[in-house]
Amino acid sequence: MALGADSYDILLQRGLLAKAGTLLNLGRKVLVVTDSGVPAQYAAQLAAQCAQPVLVTVQQGEGAKSFDGLQTLLGAMLDAGFHRGDCVVAVGGGVVGDLAGFAAATYMRGIDFYNIPTTSLSQVDSSIGGKTAINFNGVKNIVGTFYQPPRVLVDPDLLATLPPRQLAAGFAEAIKAGMIADEALLALFETGAAEARLEEVLLRALRVKKDVVEQDEKEAGLRRILNFGHTLGHGIESVYGLGGLLHGECVALGMLPMCKTPALRQRLSSVLARYHLPTHAAFDPDLVFAAVCHDKKGAGNKTAIVEVETAGHALMRTVENEALRQLLVREAKEGIGA
Ligand SMILES: NC(=O)c1ccc[n+]([C@@H]2O[C@H](COP(=O)([O-])OP(=O)(O)OC[C@H]3O[C@@H](n4cnc5c(N)ncnc54)[C@H](O)[C@@H]3O)[C@@H](O)[C@H]2O)c1
Repeated sequence: MALGADSYDILLQRGLLAKAGTLLNLGRKVLVVTDSGVPAQYAAQLAAQCAQPVLVTVQQGEGAKSFDGLQTLLGAMLDAGFHRGDCVVAVGGGVVGDLAGFAAATYMRGIDFYNIPTTSLSQVDSSIGGKTAINFNGVKNIVGTFYQPPRVLVDPDLLATLPPRQLAAGFAEAIKAGMIADEALLALFETGAAEARLEEVLLRALRVKKDVVEQDEKEAGLRRILNFGHTLGHGIESVYGLGGLLHGECVALGMLPMCKTPALRQRLSSVLARYHLPTHAAFDPDLVFAAVCHDKKGAGNKTAIVEVETAGHALMRTVENEALRQLLVREAKEGIGA
């Protein structure tokens, strides 16, 4: 990732976790952060390669991205006498990465943070780009920083233990990357080759994100194309996430209305269905609209949206909130769908 002084390597290879000690500077105090749903052997394997590991396992789930979760990590570092030269390593999915990254960014005004993502979502998306955050007062990712790690290790072997539904939800972000910038990546999903060619999927999706972030690290413009499917997806997630829909599943639903042609929408719908991602959902348009307006991407009475007309090319524009509300009403009548 070429970001001037904040540039870093993203290494992608099977078996990297076992070699972490030779790839990261672990000869110091290391806060190893994982959650209760991540197989414990991954964090244990990492801790065994650290000179002075301090292992913290937070409760699995979005609830860990909270002030309580942050306090747990900061408290553990303070108790163990961490200094500015020490570091934090996330061994987990997007929840652990976002929380541990934020703790690293804020402890003593910032200490080194390495990310070892263990979910498909974090391996194709959240582990790079430097966004860290916790949720607050029911609003997702509302408190956070941009904080780039000095190195990210992507080990596809770690996905072997991930439940199929979680694997597919992460694939939704890779499908998104294909839709906005890499039609060949979309085709890997279209032909059902994604699992057999997992490394290529991860590489292509990470490359899309890397190319965008390198041009617009702080989301002043272009980086917003990564939000394809997220404006409506976040709205749906805010209302129905607790009812059981995963982040990637909400993104899948949110992408469909943002296809500019019926043919592309049908194409995307078939790809999503192939990976058992949702293409239909009943929802209350008023509740979702209220959530979209509450989302930080809404500005005044307009909302920034990302659309795709031709696979591999994203378009950004702002629409009147009322137009978005009407779109949601139309989509709700169809139950989204293709
Ligand atoms: N920072 C960013 O740029 C960015 C981008 C997208 C999403 N996010 C955030 O990422 C989070 C979602 O991340 P996620 O989808 O990885 O969810 P997650 O971190 O909650 O992980 C999903 C579940 O899988 C379990 N798990 C993790 N690794 C496993 C493995 N290898 N084997 C078996 N189980 C495993 C976890 O314990 C958890 O229960 C959200 O909070 C979202 O806001 C951040």
